[in-house]
Amino acid sequence: MNNKTSIQGSWASRWIFILAATGSAVGLGNIWKFPYITGENGGGAFVLVYLACILLVGIPIMMAEVFIGRRARKNPINALTDLADESAGSKSWSIIGLMGMLSGVLIFSFYSVVGGWVLHYIKIMLTGEMLGVTSEQAGAAFGGLLEDPTTLLLWHTLFSIMTVVVVAAGVNKGIETVTRIMMPALFVLLLILLGYAMTTGSFGDGWNFMFHFDFSALTWNSALIALGHSFFTLSLGMGTIMAYGSYMTKKASIGKTVLTIGALDTLVALVAGLAIFPIIFANNMDPGAGPGLMFISLPVAFGQMPFGQLFGTLFFVLVGVAAWTSAISLLEPTVAFLVEKFKLKRLTATIGLGIVVWGLGIACLGSFNFLSDVTFFGKNTFDFLDYITANIMLPLGGILISLFAGWVVKDKFAQDELQLSDGIFKLWNISMKFTAPIAVAIVLYFLINPLS
Ligand code: TRP
Repeated sequence: MNNKTSIQGSWASRWIFILAATGSAVGLGNIWKFPYITGENGGGAFVLVYLACILLVGIPIMMAEVFIGRRARKNPINALTDLADESAGSKSWSIIGLMGMLSGVLIFSFYSVVGGWVLHYIKIMLTGEMLGVTSEQAGAAFGGLLEDPTTLLLWHTLFSIMTVVVVAAGVNKGIETVTRIMMPALFVLLLILLGYAMTTGSFGDGWNFMFHFDFSALTWNSALIALGHSFFTLSLGMGTIMAYGSYMTKKASIGKTVLTIGALDTLVALVAGLAIFPIIFANNMDPGAGPGLMFISLPVAFGQMPFGQLFGTLFFVLVGVAAWTSAISLLEPTVAFLVEKFKLKRLTATIGLGIVVWGLGIACLGSFNFLSDVTFFGKNTFDFLDYITANIMLPLGGILISLFAGWVVKDKFAQDELQLSDGIFKLWNISMKFTAPIAVAIVLYFLINPLS
């Protein structure tokens, strides 16, 4: 075990690392995407496949990311270079880090636009604008927002500034402080909303929908979506967890820590589903409404319920917090790289990167209005960036990270960090060498060539 530390700082404790990584993992993926893809894919059986993917593919890859970061104590590019060096492997593996940073920048640009929608919804729920609206009116309100570049720009800018301020303040003063305050707040809000969902009288329906294992509803396609999502939701494949791992205390056990992060992320997704579906069912709405579930169906549902204004606002605050802590983690690897490689001040690096991602975000928000004619392979900028990052770059990053950890890094170095029992180490190693890359390659293949 080495005694190096990162020049960016170290988390105060193992629990801070767990919460910071959970803050990265828990985001729009858990509260917006997971419930609607569960809805679209028939519920229970999909949830079961998703859990299997988290355990068999997500957790092992996350362990690899953490140990690579922690061993090198550097940003992902330099960490990969150092570890390749140490094991006499090719330095070209550091390209994974470069691709990861690019993914982070691209994801941020549309993530921040959606983060902006969430801030807008906090406002309109708070002011009661959505009280008593019909589905048509809610649909029109959401559509109207998308067609209004000025409003979108305002919220996207605010969301970007909120994120840049935290990252600029540094690992301890910035990210750690926000983690300490926001993660407990996130758990409390989620429990409040779960309690609220229990009063709707449709909690049983929501529960059955999520945990009724009807395998006839499961298609090949849903299994692929489950595996792809298990990846996105754990923030894997782009070096975020590697960067966070490089600030981890050296005594903590990586296996246990990563299991805890995976469990918390999954718990939040499941509880978010259990909070949302009863509200949807209580108002006779469609659980399979797709992406509009959160921005159209839920506001309608809240608008018809007792204390809907209060709980609707709390709901969007919850989503905002989750999106914010994730957005922070999208910038951190690149900022660490700019600081370590070019000796920039953290403030300079963060502001510079912030301007780039903010500008790219404008291209994304324009996709719904003044730039709607700009398309790549038939997709607008927003959809295109979502597609190439989540469906191509992250899975590809994941495959390469597992191959690197399994085939390039010498077992003794991996085991030096992981400190697993022999049997578990073998399992992990097999997962890195074969299971994880093959499983992800299959998903990647079918995402690019969808089953009809
Ligand atoms: N995990 C986040 C979510 O579920 C999104 C996210 C944040 C992410 N950082 C990431 C995804 C890094 C992939 C890689 O919303």
